[in-house]
Amino acid sequence: MTDAAPRIVVLVSGRGSNLGALLDAGLPVVHVVSNRPQAGGLALAARHAVTSTVVDHAAFPSREAFDSALAAAIDAHAPTLVVLAGFMRVLGDPFVQRYAGRLVNIHPSLLPAFTGLHTHRRALDAGVRLHGCTVHFVTPTLDHGPVIAQAVVPVLPDDTEDTLAARVLEQEHRLYPAAVRWCLEGRVRVDGLRVHVRGAEFPAFGRCVPSPA
Ligand code: GRF
Repeated sequence: MTDAAPRIVVLVSGRGSNLGALLDAGLPVVHVVSNRPQAGGLALAARHAVTSTVVDHAAFPSREAFDSALAAAIDAHAPTLVVLAGFMRVLGDPFVQRYAGRLVNIHPSLLPAFTGLHTHRRALDAGVRLHGCTVHFVTPTLDHGPVIAQAVVPVLPDDTEDTLAARVLEQEHRLYPAAVRWCLEGRVRVDGLRVHVRGAEFPAFGRCVPSPA
């Protein structure tokens, strides 16, 4: 990141609970963009006096046109970091490359397991004992960028998709603010697919939400 005061633009499509966690953590969210006019994240932004823009994908004839409008809405707020928080559109390569190294996402699985959608159902179907969430840099290959941090939860015998999702979401709300703060503080260095975080404590095992220290 640069020496200028950090500025985050958050992209949402839905309820925005991760946006809420970032705001509650006091992170410098300067603007929110949604591709869906009805996204709950827009109302949440307004409640926190954060401005927002809707770039409705349905109004654009192509992905390229949508991505260009999205980039314009983002760049108007000169962010140091662009944070995807439940943003449900696949982004084209030029868009991803434009924000290389400053575009992050949270995904509800322990990547590289369960890329894509319906991660909790697929984790249950696969019979895994451990599940969780991942914060990663976004690269052109969907859900495959360098991993900044992960949090692990157990899969319990009587879990349903909903109970497992809730357990993971609780960890998302802890993990994402910590990882975003590391990025803003310039503590994150990418080396191929490995990410080194200066000064962060990663417990050897257990509920592996890294300490925000
Ligand atoms: C989260 O589970 C996140 O990991 C995924 O989409 C969901 C968004 O939830 N990418 P919310 O809108 O932040 O509540």
